[in-house]
Amino acid sequence: MKPVIALTKGRVEKQFLAYLEERAIDSTPLVEKGRKLSVETDQAIYFFAKGVDVTTYVEHGIADLGVVGEDIIAEFQPDVFNLFPLPFGACKMAVAAEKEKVWPDRKKRIASKYTNITKQFYLDKGESVDIIKLEGSVELAPLLGLADAIVDIVETGTTLKENGLEVIEDIQHFTARVIANRSSLKMKRDILQPYITLLQEEVSTS
Ligand code: PRP
Repeated sequence: MKPVIALTKGRVEKQFLAYLEERAIDSTPLVEKGRKLSVETDQAIYFFAKGVDVTTYVEHGIADLGVVGEDIIAEFQPDVFNLFPLPFGACKMAVAAEKEKVWPDRKKRIASKYTNITKQFYLDKGESVDIIKLEGSVELAPLLGLADAIVDIVETGTTLKENGLEVIEDIQHFTARVIANRSSLKMKRDILQPYITLLQEEVSTS
């Protein structure tokens, strides 16, 4: 039996593959996977899904381990074991608006994919706002007049800059993380532990 690992497609996946290479964990079949959504190596079985689905697969024990952005964990609070952070995928959740934004004299409208994080953030501030749920390209909302500001992930800051927006307030910093199914961690410890040890190995950068 091999560990089953759910990987978040896209940016996290690319950085995770580089991370595996540094640790001499076989990643060639993953790099060469083409459009395949599942790949087996000598060490593990991997499959690729959207971040929020990674947490669902791990929660249900279909995957033993998952690699996912901490933003997804913060937003959806899945019932998984939050194993350890990875040294990549650094980004922050922030409030952003148009440069020199003139705020209207009414309740603010905030657009976000992360409605739970947004709700908690404004609750903690004691400010009542209207939250508008979007599924992507959230930066459009202030430009098109749907919202006064957005709550979104900022990684390089390029998307904000190229759309004339700026960060007004930081909410929280995140990285990618390894999560585990609660019962896999107990029942399949002997299979998972060697892989987890490899993942946590320090590598010399010199
Ligand atoms: C994320 C996020 C921002 C962008 C930030 O979007 O929602 O739009 O990345 O990255 P940057 O600071 O490096 O420009 P993603 O690419 O995941 O797509 P989405 O807009 O469809 O959510």
